[in-house]
Amino acid sequence: MNSCTLSFLKKRLVLLALATGSACAAHAADPAAPRSREPFDSGWRFARFGEQADGTTRDEPADPQAAGFDDSGWRKLDVPHDWGIEGPFRMELAGETGKLPWKGIGWYRKHFVLPASDKGRQVFVDFDGAMANAKVWCNGRYAGTWPYGYSSFRIDLTPFLKFGGDNVLAVRLDTENWDSRWYPGAGIYRHVWLVKTAPVHVGHWGTYVTTPEVADDAAKVRVAVTVDNQSAGPVETTVTTEIFEPGPDGSPGTKSVAKADSPAGTIVPGGSKVFTQEATVAKPKRWDLATPQRYLARTTVRAGGKVVDSYETPFGIRTLEFTARDGFLLNGKRVPIQGTCNHHDLGALGAALNDRALERQLEILKEMGCNALRTSHNPPAPELLDLADSMGFLVWDEAFDCWKKGKKPNDYGLLFDEWHVKDLQALVRRDRNHPSVIIWSIGNEVKEQKDAVLTKHLADVVRAEDPTRPVSNGYNGPDGARESGAVLGIDIMGVNYFFSKQDQWDSDPRYKNMPTIGSETSSCVSSRGEYFFGKHRENWQVSSYDRDKPGWGCDPDTQFQRHVRWPHLLGEFVWTGFDYLGEPTPFNSKDPTQLLNFRNDPVKLAKLKKEMEEQAKNPSPSRSSYFGIIDLAGFPKDRYYSYQAQWRPDLPMAHLFPHWNWPERVGQPTPVHLYTSGDEAELFLNGQSLGRKAKRPGQDFRLVWDDVKYEPGTLKAVAYKNGKEWATDTVRTTGPAAVLTLSADRPSIRADGRDLAFVTVRVADADGLTVPRADNAIDFSISGPGEIVAVDNGDATSFEPFQASRRKAFNGLALVIVRALSGKPGRIELSAKSEGLKPATVTITGGAP
Ligand code: GAL
Repeated sequence: MNSCTLSFLKKRLVLLALATGSACAAHAADPAAPRSREPFDSGWRFARFGEQADGTTRDEPADPQAAGFDDSGWRKLDVPHDWGIEGPFRMELAGETGKLPWKGIGWYRKHFVLPASDKGRQVFVDFDGAMANAKVWCNGRYAGTWPYGYSSFRIDLTPFLKFGGDNVLAVRLDTENWDSRWYPGAGIYRHVWLVKTAPVHVGHWGTYVTTPEVADDAAKVRVAVTVDNQSAGPVETTVTTEIFEPGPDGSPGTKSVAKADSPAGTIVPGGSKVFTQEATVAKPKRWDLATPQRYLARTTVRAGGKVVDSYETPFGIRTLEFTARDGFLLNGKRVPIQGTCNHHDLGALGAALNDRALERQLEILKEMGCNALRTSHNPPAPELLDLADSMGFLVWDEAFDCWKKGKKPNDYGLLFDEWHVKDLQALVRRDRNHPSVIIWSIGNEVKEQKDAVLTKHLADVVRAEDPTRPVSNGYNGPDGARESGAVLGIDIMGVNYFFSKQDQWDSDPRYKNMPTIGSETSSCVSSRGEYFFGKHRENWQVSSYDRDKPGWGCDPDTQFQRHVRWPHLLGEFVWTGFDYLGEPTPFNSKDPTQLLNFRNDPVKLAKLKKEMEEQAKNPSPSRSSYFGIIDLAGFPKDRYYSYQAQWRPDLPMAHLFPHWNWPERVGQPTPVHLYTSGDEAELFLNGQSLGRKAKRPGQDFRLVWDDVKYEPGTLKAVAYKNGKEWATDTVRTTGPAAVLTLSADRPSIRADGRDLAFVTVRVADADGLTVPRADNAIDFSISGPGEIVAVDNGDATSFEPFQASRRKAFNGLALVIVRALSGKPGRIELSAKSEGLKPATVTITGGAP
C-alpha cells in the first residue's frame, strides 16, 4: 500500500507508511560539514514595558531594536523565560489565565560575536516558541516575525550580520495583544538555537522520513531531503543517506545498516530541490511503547563533489492502523489509547520550558499507565516529542483552539486568515519524523465545526505535508458536525464529552467505518486531600471523592463504562493529566466560553449561566485548574489510582481514601472508597471487617463502603483478584504534626544550570506518617552550589509566590524545586524548618554536566 493512499472510509484502515522521527536535531557529525547548531539560550538582556507586574504601565523607550541602544541597565537572564510566572498573583486579574500578570510588552536583546571565519556561511536563529507576536531585529534591521506563540520558527540572519564583529539580536514580544482561555505564559519561553550552514544545505525541517513498507523481514525507508541553494550560482548537488540502527538503550546507535542515494541534480541559485531516496532495512526493530527505539538517518549533501552538509534525523519504524471496529493497532497489536490532555505549563515554573520538568511529568504519567498525550490545544515544545519518542508515548499533535471565529477578542481568530497555513505547515514539517506522533489535530471545539469546506481545507493542508497519519479534530458538538457532513473532511472522529448518540453514528452509513476517539473526556474536578461530606465544594476547594465535574463532564467511572459499552472506540484523552495554571472551573465564573459546550442544550445553558452569575457575586481566588489527575506540584490525587487500576490491570495495587483524621466526625458515617486493579476487596476498621465487596464487571470501577462510622485508628483494605489476595492498602489516623521530611526525586543532578531536583516535603507525625490536613508554613534554605527555583503545594487558591523560599504545606505536602549551578559540581544541602516541627535536610549532588 502506498503511503499516500489512505482511505479512512474502508472498514479497516491500514497505515503502513508511517514516517517517524525527531525534530531533525542535526549537528555536525562529519567534521568536514560546516553545519552547527548551538544553544542560544544564555546571556540575554530583558526589560518589560507596557503593563507591569503591579498593574502600572511603563512606556517603551525609543528604538530598543537599534544596534547602539543602551541595554546595560536591563536585567540579565537566560531563556527559556516566562515573565508572567514571576507574579505576583493579583485578585483582580482573571482566574482563567491564572491571576498572573502575564500581559505586557517584553524586549529581549542578545549580544554575540561571530568569527570572521563564518563569513560565507548561512546563519539562522531558531525559536522553539516565543509568546507572543514576536518581532525580530538583527543589528537594528528588521529580520522577521511570527505571531503565534506556540509555533517554532526560523529567522535567516545572514543578510544582517557582521562577521568578525559584535552583533545584537532584539526581540519584541507583545502579550497585550493576545488572549487565551488558560495561562499562556509570556516571553521567550522555549529554547533558542543558532544554526550555521554552508550556502547549500538541508532546508529548515528539510528531511521527511517515511516507511512505505514494513514487514518483519524488511522495511523500506524513504527519505525526502529538501536542499536549499543560497549561493550565487547553480550547484550540482548529490545527496546520500546512511541508516544506523537503534543502540542498546533505544536511542539512535552507530551501526550502519543501510545506505541510499539519489541521482544528482542542479539547484538554481535561491532555489530548493527535493531529493528522494530509498533504503531497505533488514529485520527492522520496531518502535513500540515498550521498545521505543529509533533509527538514525544521516544525510550527506555534496555540492561540486565536496561535502557541504551532514544532517541527522532520528526516526522509528512502526505501523499504525486505526479501525472503526477493532480500535487502534500499533505494529498489528491492539493498544487502547489511555491518554491525557495537558496544557504546556509546568506548574510553578510557568510556561518556561525545562526539559527535566517535562520529563518528570511524563514519568509520573507513565507510572499511572498513561500511554498517550494530547498537546491541548497547540503545538508543543519539540522536547515533548523527543521525550515521547524515547519514553514510549503516543501523541495527538494539535494545532489550534480556534479558527477564524475566535473564542476571545484577541486570539488566533485574528491571525487565522494570514497565518493558518504557515502555522499548520510549521507544525507538521517540524514533527512528522517523530514515531510518537500518530494523529494530527486541526482544532479543538472550534466555532466553525460544522463548516465542511473549512474543515477539509485545513485537513488537506496537513495531508499535503504528511499523508501518512490521520487528521482529527476535537468536537464539542459532535452530532451537529456529523450531521452537517463536516466530519467527512477528517479521518478520525474526535468526541469531546458528548457520546450520547454514539450508537446512531455507529450505524450511520456515512460514519460507521470512521474510527472514533474520546479526544477529551471526563473533566472531573478535585483538590488533592480535600474531602467533603454531602457536598462537592467548600471554600474554593473540590472534594476528592472524584464525583464532581462541570455539566458537560463525567467522573472517570462513567467514562470507563463508555469504553466497555463501545469497545471499538480508539480510547480517550482525559481532561487533564496535570492541573494547569488558569481555567479554575468550577470557580471560573468569568469565562463565558464554557457556555459554548451547551450551545445546543438550552436547559443546561441556562443552568450554567445562572451558576456563573451567582459565582460572580462572590469572586473566587482560584487561579489554577482542578481538572488534573495530578496536582500542580506533581502530587497524585486519588483519581490517579482510579486510572492506574484501569490502565495497568496487571499491577497489583489498592488505594484507599479518604485520610483517616476526622476527630470532628466520631460516630458519623464517613464513606470509604477503594481504587484497585483487583475485582473484590474486604475493608477492616481497627481489625473489624466491614464487609467484602465485589465490582460488577463493566459497571463498577471503585468499591465503596458508604456507611463506615468514623472512629480513629487503622483502615485496611485487602483486595482480591480471581479469588486470590492481590494487594492491600492501609490508612492510619496520625498523631499531631511533629517532624518535616524531605525526599528528592533524584539524589544527583547535572550541574548545568538547567537540571532540576524535585524535593517532596512532608509534614509528618512522630511515627513518620504524613499528617493529611497539615498546613504548616515552612522555610527553606540552601547551602552549596544550588538554588531554589520555585516552591509549590498544589493548592489552586494559594497566592503565595512560586519564586520564594517559603511555602505552607497543603494537606501535608509541599514541593521545592532545586537547580544546581552551572559548572559548579558539589554537594547541595536543602534544609526545611517550621515552628514546632523537627527540621529536615536533604543532600543532592550536583554532578559534572
Ligand atoms: C473543554 C475544552 C478544554 C477545557 C475543558 C474543561 O470544553 O476543550 O479546553 O476548557 O472543556 O472542561
